[in-house]
Amino acid sequence: MYQASDKRYDHMKYKKCGNSGVKLPRVALGLWHNFGSVDPFENQKAMAFEAFNQGITHFDLANNYGPVYGSAEDNFGRIMESDLRPYRDEMIISTKAGYDMWPGPYGDGGSRKYLMSSIDQSLKRMKVDYVDIFYHHRFDPDTPLEETMGALSDIVRQGKALYVGISNYNAEQTKRAAEILKENKTPLFINQVCYNMMNRWVEEDHLLDTLAEVGAGCICFSPLAQGVLTNKYLHGIPAGSRATRNHFLHEDSITPELVGKVTKLNEIALNRGQTLAQMALSWVLRDGVTTVLIGASRPEQIKDNVGIVDHLEFTSEELKEIDRILAE
Ligand SMILES: NC(=O)c1ccc[n+]([C@@H]2O[C@H](COP(=O)([O-])OP(=O)(O)OC[C@H]3O[C@@H](n4cnc5c(N)ncnc54)[C@H](OP(=O)(O)O)[C@@H]3O)[C@@H](O)[C@H]2O)c1
Repeated sequence: MYQASDKRYDHMKYKKCGNSGVKLPRVALGLWHNFGSVDPFENQKAMAFEAFNQGITHFDLANNYGPVYGSAEDNFGRIMESDLRPYRDEMIISTKAGYDMWPGPYGDGGSRKYLMSSIDQSLKRMKVDYVDIFYHHRFDPDTPLEETMGALSDIVRQGKALYVGISNYNAEQTKRAAEILKENKTPLFINQVCYNMMNRWVEEDHLLDTLAEVGAGCICFSPLAQGVLTNKYLHGIPAGSRATRNHFLHEDSITPELVGKVTKLNEIALNRGQTLAQMALSWVLRDGVTTVLIGASRPEQIKDNVGIVDHLEFTSEELKEIDRILAE
């Protein structure tokens, strides 16, 4: 049985999530890819253990992570049962509902019907009594926000989740959600959004200012642009990489222009004494973001990525040079 490292809290840094009393690790692990029923289970265990040994206390899931849908939660539940159960009180486990999950009109969107059923399914699959954060996965224009937020508040009241999250909500939607949740006395804890050097809508939307105003944290997914912001694609597309395996990142999107930019970014990273992956993660955390939410296909990547926590600062020259390269 897995025995957690005695040194697991020696290196990782933690930051308060918004106005809450809870600290999140600056690096969290997501199980969107590489934890499905199609992926080797021993590697999944090795990644979960490496993460926890490195002080990553936060594991992020969703009802439909796999493939097949639900299988990442199933696999995580197996690992909880066999090895991680003794550490449950040291862990922040999150899951979500909001995208397509099961057939028919009640397995998608933001209805009370969908969210209430989905949390029960997720708890069963993950073999836990509660999750720490339950998210609405995306804004649903076809459901009154009061209904969606009411369901999240009630899930907290029922003890099935401790905190309320929203994901992919813009600043305006975040503000409205936070107001309703405040009235319900279950404050908004966090918004989970895509943010990386190549996807900067969060800046244009002033989302971080809004989150600070409402007292919620921000966790950023795909901080490596699914692996593009690493040295992985500098010399071609390696077999087994996400671009070869997955319809969310296409081989065609790894263009010579993109590789040219990434090569220049890699030079800045090396001058800073970091890998490009490390620099890309530090960059996301440079200003107000609570946590970067990484994915991984191997334990070594997790080890590389947690190396950032001592080197989050950038000089203004480095930031300008990065912006210049990205704008080319
Ligand atoms: N809320 C939402 O709507 C939403 C959407 C997407 C994701 N998420 C969450 O965010 C998490 C992370 O998303 P993501 O997987 O797209 O994040 P990411 O960190 O941008 O990409 C992860 C991929 O980058 C590569 N990688 C990671 N570390 C590396 C390193 N040190 N060196 C070289 N390559 C490295 C690996 O690719 P290879 O597989 O090619 O090795 C890995 O699978 C998900 O698991 C999920 O929890 C949420």
